[in-house]
Amino acid sequence: MRILVTGATGTLGRAVVPALVRRGHQVRAMSRREREGTDVTWVRGDLASGNGVRQAARDCDAIVHLATQARRGSERMDVAGTLTLVSAAREARVSHLLYVSPVGADRVPTGLPRHKFEAERVIRGSGLGHTVLRTTHYHQWLDRLLRRLAGLPAIPVDPSVPWQPIDTAEVAARLGGLLADGPRGETLEFGGPQVLGTDELVRTWLRAHRSRRLCVRVRYPGKLIAAQRAGALTTDATPLGRISWADYLCPPMPLSDDFAVEHTASPTSPANQPEGDPDLRVYGGDEGYQRQTRK
Ligand SMILES: NC(=O)c1ccc[n+]([C@@H]2O[C@H](COP(=O)([O-])OP(=O)(O)OC[C@H]3O[C@@H](n4cnc5c(N)ncnc54)[C@H](OP(=O)(O)O)[C@@H]3O)[C@@H](O)[C@H]2O)c1
Repeated sequence: MRILVTGATGTLGRAVVPALVRRGHQVRAMSRREREGTDVTWVRGDLASGNGVRQAARDCDAIVHLATQARRGSERMDVAGTLTLVSAAREARVSHLLYVSPVGADRVPTGLPRHKFEAERVIRGSGLGHTVLRTTHYHQWLDRLLRRLAGLPAIPVDPSVPWQPIDTAEVAARLGGLLADGPRGETLEFGGPQVLGTDELVRTWLRAHRSRRLCVRVRYPGKLIAAQRAGALTTDATPLGRISWADYLCPPMPLSDDFAVEHTASPTSPANQPEGDPDLRVYGGDEGYQRQTRK
């Protein structure tokens, strides 16, 4: 499939582009800046001004729309920019528009979530084949946020705020699967495997980074945080992601190549003793039986 990815340079886009290439798709990656790459065709496009968007969508079978403007200008970018993209997609007769939005977009009538919900409505009303996937916060985004907070004299922690972080690699894989399924005309949710309070989230992060940075208990302000505190940004929709926050921060060691050999009980182990016949019992050291299996 020929697929245009908007937001290809973002937190999620950096996982989605290589995942789609690995699946054998021809990927056209959009950015506002000039870029070069070998596996993908980079195109310049700006959803706020509309420059380059039509050309970017031309001849594409599908669009994965990830571009967003989280700080300032989310209305102009996320809502008006999505309208611009929809009109380019119609012109190009794109058969599937796949949009990523945050969990809670429908429950938090303020700021970025409100604009994301409006953009979802633009997509649902576009008449195009579409799927909307709402996700919880990304490990990679939270990790960056905590790195910034760790630069402060103390990390502010509000234990009453829950998070359900998910890995961008798993979201990328899910998007690949949704593209293969074709447009579902549905809005789906995809969250991480665990809901963690900010205190546990930060504690795990500090442990992983062997940091003793001081933490200070606070109450985070704002309407969005109040909604998050009430659970509006978490989901119990299944399937959930499988990579936990702790696994993302400290990935389990890969199993060694001789895993099977190491797991085979030695001839002298209790597991290999012939039942009921003490004469056939094999005596000797059993060191292989409990050998450590991870390097
Ligand atoms: N981050 C999270 O934890 C999280 C959680 C849930 C849902 N989401 C959703 O996931 C999607 C991807 O988010 P993300 O975190 O990957 O975003 P991000 O890291 O903030 O990246 C934003 C992307 O949007 C592009 N962009 C910004 N303004 C643009 C414009 N005017 N025209 C064209 N492209 C523009 C940027 O590309 P250039 O700068 O290269 O032009 C960049 O690639 C969004 O829909 C977001 O709401 C994110």
